[in-house]
Amino acid sequence: MKKFNIGIIGTGWPGQQHAIALRGSARGQLHACADLDEERRHAFVKEFGAIKAAADYAELLGDPQVDAVMICLPNYLHFPASLAALEAGKHVFCEKPPTLNAAEMTVLRDEAQKRGLIYFFGRQFRFTPGMISAKRLINDGRLGKIYHARAIWIRSRGIPPGIGGWFTDKKRAGGGALIDIGVHALDSVWYLMGTPRPISVSAGVFRNFEHFVSGNVFDVEDAAFAFIRFDNGAVVQLETCWAGNLPDDIPEGKYFGRETNNSLVFGTKGTLRLKPLTLFEDQNGALVTVPITNGNTQDTGDSFAAQLENFLAAISGDAQPINSVDQAVELMEMIDAIYSSGTLGREVPIT
Ligand SMILES: NC(=O)c1ccc[n+]([C@@H]2O[C@H](COP(=O)([O-])OP(=O)(O)OC[C@H]3O[C@@H](n4cnc5c(N)ncnc54)[C@H](O)[C@@H]3O)[C@@H](O)[C@H]2O)c1
Repeated sequence: MKKFNIGIIGTGWPGQQHAIALRGSARGQLHACADLDEERRHAFVKEFGAIKAAADYAELLGDPQVDAVMICLPNYLHFPASLAALEAGKHVFCEKPPTLNAAEMTVLRDEAQKRGLIYFFGRQFRFTPGMISAKRLINDGRLGKIYHARAIWIRSRGIPPGIGGWFTDKKRAGGGALIDIGVHALDSVWYLMGTPRPISVSAGVFRNFEHFVSGNVFDVEDAAFAFIRFDNGAVVQLETCWAGNLPDDIPEGKYFGRETNNSLVFGTKGTLRLKPLTLFEDQNGALVTVPITNGNTQDTGDSFAAQLENFLAAISGDAQPINSVDQAVELMEMIDAIYSSGTLGREVPIT
């Protein structure tokens, strides 16, 4: 089988996870990398053995041997780098958030479709063994009709800096906790619900903890809470924050203070909790707790490898992309609407 030559643009943590996944891939191989940071670039080449390395990603895009790129740049570069890659005839895998907003994502969708190229957004949590088990249970009808989900990713002391402080700078990040971690929580439940079409959002968006950051621009939200309605009548409650005075029933994590990243999907026959993966099921009127084996929902190596294989199979034409370009547009429409509702202080429609 021909192995696709992959270029990785941005060699921080996500770029490294994709390079590890490529090591074990039968369909793809690391060919080139690009990163402005010389030290990171050299360390990446040494560790993963890219044949070519450049500071400027344009050089990588000009390489006719590169079939596809995996973009792991700060958020504001997702759009220009993805567009340039599509224009250069490369398939695109782009880390989350797909873009800064839905308008940018719509341009990418149209460009990818015009050129017959795959655009795939990074969401490795869809590929964890636990999510695969959860999706199977849902497809088998164990939840019945899904009418509600609660999506939660909250931290007590977890404002990330990023190189040069870009995570807290609206121009470069597009937003704060919502676009950084809330997008993961929201996408997980939306995916399990079968990606119904969002129709309206009511949200509150806050910046309360500026005093935790010194020296960097901080003009994004550190918390967002949203209520999203879908065209099938289902609703989602989303709760996300980088900082907050969270209670002690939330355990202390390694880096970000107290932290929980967990979600619940409610159906007429059963409710699923993601961590630990558990089904709360109606059995003849009794509510029974059913622990699910193979329920790991952490984004360990398996999930990056499985995500990569779906991307490569989609390029080959052997599978539909699970993280599809149309879903990237709708995901960004929900993010846009949350910000817009937070600013306006009222429910906003998604048309
Ligand atoms: N999937 C996940 O769970 C996950 C986890 C972390 C980050 N991310 C996403 O990955 C992206 C990168 O995040 P990060 O934490 O690695 O950020 P980072 O700031 O640590 O790394 C970004 C890298 O891009 C390089 N870079 C910046 N501008 C460049 C340019 N013009 N040309 C070439 N290289 C350039 C920087 O030198 C740096 O090495 C973000 O969009 C983030 O949301 C996803």
